[in-house]
Amino acid sequence: MKRLGIGLVGSGFMGRSHAHAFRAAPGVFDLPMTPVLELLADVNAEAAAKAAAGLGFARSTGDWRELIADPAVDLVDITTPNTLHLPIALAAIEAGKPVYCEKPLAPNAADAKRMADAAERKGVKTAVGFNYLKNPMVALAREIVESGEIGEVVSFRGIHAEDYMTDPMAPYTWRLDKKGGHGVVADLGSHIISIARMVVGPIESLVGQIKTVTDRRPLAGSSEMKPVEVDDEARALVQFAGGATGSIEASWVKAGRKMTLAFEVTGSKGTIEVDHERLNELKLYTTGQPKGREGFKTILAGPDHSFYKEFVPAPGHQLGFNDIKTIEVMALVRSLAGGGPKFLPDFREAWEIQRVVDGIVLSANEKRWIDVTEV
Ligand SMILES: NC(=O)c1ccc[n+]([C@@H]2O[C@H](COP(=O)([O-])OP(=O)(O)OC[C@H]3O[C@@H](n4cnc5c(N)ncnc54)[C@H](O)[C@@H]3O)[C@@H](O)[C@H]2O)c1
Repeated sequence: MKRLGIGLVGSGFMGRSHAHAFRAAPGVFDLPMTPVLELLADVNAEAAAKAAAGLGFARSTGDWRELIADPAVDLVDITTPNTLHLPIALAAIEAGKPVYCEKPLAPNAADAKRMADAAERKGVKTAVGFNYLKNPMVALAREIVESGEIGEVVSFRGIHAEDYMTDPMAPYTWRLDKKGGHGVVADLGSHIISIARMVVGPIESLVGQIKTVTDRRPLAGSSEMKPVEVDDEARALVQFAGGATGSIEASWVKAGRKMTLAFEVTGSKGTIEVDHERLNELKLYTTGQPKGREGFKTILAGPDHSFYKEFVPAPGHQLGFNDIKTIEVMALVRSLAGGGPKFLPDFREAWEIQRVVDGIVLSANEKRWIDVTEV
């Protein structure tokens, strides 16, 4: 079978998850190509060698340019901080290699558009790691909406809240570096925007609000304080192109919330609710139930939902975060081989998501409703 040489750049939280998914995917799914963990690049040769040994890569390098030029690398996989996505992706595209990049695609919509344009000009396939779109329960939500089971969509209420920056003394990290783009509105907000677009459709206009809650944080291992210039909290009222209205919220200072990537879609005949703190559940309410017996029912993920049975044959036994990443990798490998459907979100869709992110900040700064096409 044809091999697919993986060149992974970065080996932190996401690098580990990608490596795991590439190792797991051929065991779980029938794949048209076999992913081979070929080459890993990190900040320097020592860090790269250590990570390569731990994650099962054959070779390592301290220079991502070497990885792109390497003839055994067929796919460039970017899991670095956001500032590096553009230079690495553009170099890979120039070399004619497909790119799998973590979200958010770029620090801003203009850069994301540059990346999407370059890939399309060169005819290079791209994929962006909005993994929660691959959660079988999110796919089911979209299926229910498309089938008309809850009628015409009236409203969407979405949030991605976690609490990893709640402690005001939590150290300054690359996530707070303005060069990498906005704050939580990009880091977590992009996920809930990606879901809103997939389940309900394009967002046409919005009015946003952003807030920096802690304006100085210590540098790691030091008492020196660094100013924080990005948002810790963001929210927006949104108008969907299809007529529905809604709200989107993101926070990394929401004490107690560990993975509240949650949404509610209400239609004229019912409501769907999904919360990733219980990622194997979808709650569905439909109108017309007998009086005194009305209520939401809880659907547990099971073999009747896309890509669940490949992991486990019995319902209710639960998939996890890395399984969802494995589904993402399967879809990517199938699309690269040409047999499967086009992978989404690609760079073009990630640009559309980034326009909403930038739009929320623009609207908040200018204190007015904006049309997303202004971005
Ligand atoms: N899809 C998701 O659910 C999800 C979750 C977390 C993070 N992310 C995204 O993944 C990306 C990485 O986040 P993370 O949490 O894994 O970060 P991290 O800090 O844990 O890891 C970043 C990695 O990049 C490496 N790196 C930094 N500079 C480099 C360079 N010049 N050359 C090569 N390697 C370099 C670091 O050494 C580290 O190994 C970000 O874009 C982030 O937004 C996505």
